[in-house]
Amino acid sequence: MKQFIILTILAWSLSSTSQAAPIDLMALETGKKTYNAFCIYCHGAKGEGDGQAAALNGVPLVDISNKAYMSLLSDQDIYDRIAYGKEKFPYIQMPGWRSNLKPQEIKAVVVYVRSLAVDKGALKGPTPKEREERFNNSSAEKGRIYYLKYCSTCHGRTGDGKGPVANTLKLKPACFNDPKITEQLTTENVKKYVTDISEERGRYMPIFEPFIEEYIDEIVQHIKTLAK
Ligand code: HEC
Ligand code: HEC
Repeated sequence: MKQFIILTILAWSLSSTSQAAPIDLMALETGKKTYNAFCIYCHGAKGEGDGQAAALNGVPLVDISNKAYMSLLSDQDIYDRIAYGKEKFPYIQMPGWRSNLKPQEIKAVVVYVRSLAVDKGALKGPTPKEREERFNNSSAEKGRIYYLKYCSTCHGRTGDGKGPVANTLKLKPACFNDPKITEQLTTENVKKYVTDISEERGRYMPIFEPFIEEYIDEIVQHIKTLAK
């Protein structure tokens, strides 16, 4: 209760001394707790995408502390991306959080994510909208993202067979920089390698759930671009 009163007074004094919209300190507090419990291990303490689990997350994480990037998203845009994740925004391969977090907690985490913003100059990479459009309109981009997400932790982001999980395996992942390997790959045989337990090849890979079959065509296209 005491903390609540102090926060309220703080919020009041902040809002009365500045013209800008008052920062909701209660939300900031809840948002920080939520972020530290659910987000930090991928996005990192400052939002730069260097959390402990980031390396194991095949897709490199966008810097959500980059003001130029994040200012292109409204609070509602950020809310929806956090709530629904890849279900509605497949260009971000992040699970949606709406089954773990209440709407109030998601709102609070939006406030906290906003507070992480740092001015890093003009945006160098694509905007969120450009990324979304590129993903939706290009099977090459889908293949790249799905490969990073589902295959790169073992086969490596560049296909060198040296992803972060590779060291832990007795049998080394295939190197996709080798054209002798990639030229024999077809959508059909790769589907078998990744889903059919009776297949000899790929036995040291996880057996993927059938959802993966939908992506294999695009993934194989991408793998073929990795050959040198
Ligand atoms: C398992 C790792 C993981 C966790 C945990 C995680 N995220 Fe993400 N997040 C991602 C990935 C992967 C992306 C997409 C990265 C990319 O493609 O640039 C992403 C993207 C985002 C984006 C950027 C959306 C855009 O349009 O570019 C926001 C904002 C975000 N996450 C917020 C959160 C919040 C808030 C939490 C906690 C509730 C959270 N994330 C937890 C992996 C994670
Ligand atoms: C947990 C690590 C791991 C993941 C994740 C993984 N692989 Fe593999 N993969 C391996 C290993 C190890 C081998 C080599 C040994 C074998 O054949 O089991 C292999 C072999 C293969 C081969 C056989 C190449 C050949 O001609 O012998 C293909 C094709 C392949 N992987 C495709 C994929 C695709 C596509 C994905 C993502 C959908 C994927 N792998 C994800 C570990 C992995």
